[in-house]
Amino acid sequence: MKRVLTGIQPSGDLHIGNYFGSIKQMVDAQKDNDTFAFIANYHAQTSINDGKRLSELTMQCATDFLALGIDPNKSTFWVQSDVKEVLELYWVLSSFTPMGLLERAHSYKDKTARGQATNHSLFSYPVLMAADILIFGSEIVPVGKDQIQHVEIARDVAIKFNNKYGDILTVPEFRVQEEVQTVPGIDGQKMSKSYGNIVNIFGEQKKQLKTIKKIVTENVAMEEPKEYKNCNVYNMAKLFLNQNELVELQNRYKNGKEGHGHFKLYLGEVMWEYFAEFREKRSYYEKNQDEVRDILNLGSKKAKEIASPMIETIRNVTGISY
Ligand code: ADP
Ligand code: TRP
Repeated sequence: MKRVLTGIQPSGDLHIGNYFGSIKQMVDAQKDNDTFAFIANYHAQTSINDGKRLSELTMQCATDFLALGIDPNKSTFWVQSDVKEVLELYWVLSSFTPMGLLERAHSYKDKTARGQATNHSLFSYPVLMAADILIFGSEIVPVGKDQIQHVEIARDVAIKFNNKYGDILTVPEFRVQEEVQTVPGIDGQKMSKSYGNIVNIFGEQKKQLKTIKKIVTENVAMEEPKEYKNCNVYNMAKLFLNQNELVELQNRYKNGKEGHGHFKLYLGEVMWEYFAEFREKRSYYEKNQDEVRDILNLGSKKAKEIASPMIETIRNVTGISY
């Protein structure tokens, strides 16, 4: 039984990259692990400065998580800001985080390269993420490929801290679903809420299809055979298909006769079908938001039971207690 933890930012609609890159791994891990999942609303402040929107997105994200299979009877599930001990650890760990480590972080570098205005929270957010992971003694962190580096930063920081103060922090490991890696967005780059290229999980079917129709594909005449390996439509569809269905789709690409438009319609269908039962669960929780709040409250109490003694230990060894 391992302690498995992950967090997700409530920074927009959840998309299929979030689901296959992290949420599904977490849901599957619930069977035989001690699982912890939280809504990283402090992290979302790095990109959202509309208070009303952030609080709405936090409830939306919690509703989505429950609909997608996070089971409050099996997992500890809460909102990051309800366990404020992480903020204290974040500060303590800042003194164990070399600047160079943060300067090399891809997420920060990518956002800078895209011309997004940067600020200190964006720069330092791997330290907060390290605090999230380390305060709960997490052993495994399921993430998408883009977050590996952040878990590595958490490892480095834990080792540095332990070298100074003894074996207090558990050094975590990341876990990436090999066959998923990075899900492409409709423009072929990494699918991300912040890049406006997502296919969302919940939403109207018509809108979803409209988005799918915008997926960038190569320009090949309808009757010609088509390349599937690097096709964005294929690479999304394969997430929903079993081996036989996958081979069938590959053959449709190789045979020609059909255009990318047909494959897009097919993607729309398999995706709609895949999330059908989740949509039902979502509409239940949407109508019962008080139940969602109760679940989050209970979760934060359970999370505090672990975070509080840990922060006490940290205060003692670092001399903050006097
Ligand atoms: P976003 O980039 O859309 O803001 P987050 O940074 O909130 O997504 O990521 C939440 C989780 O989903 C992380 O574990 C991340 O690695 C995973 N994830 C996000 N985008 C993708 C993707 N395109 N492919 C695979 N995993 C992804
Ligand atoms: N930074 C992560 C992301 O953007 C979200 C996150 C915050 C997280 N704290 C975490 C993920 C701790 C795993 C563990 O996706």
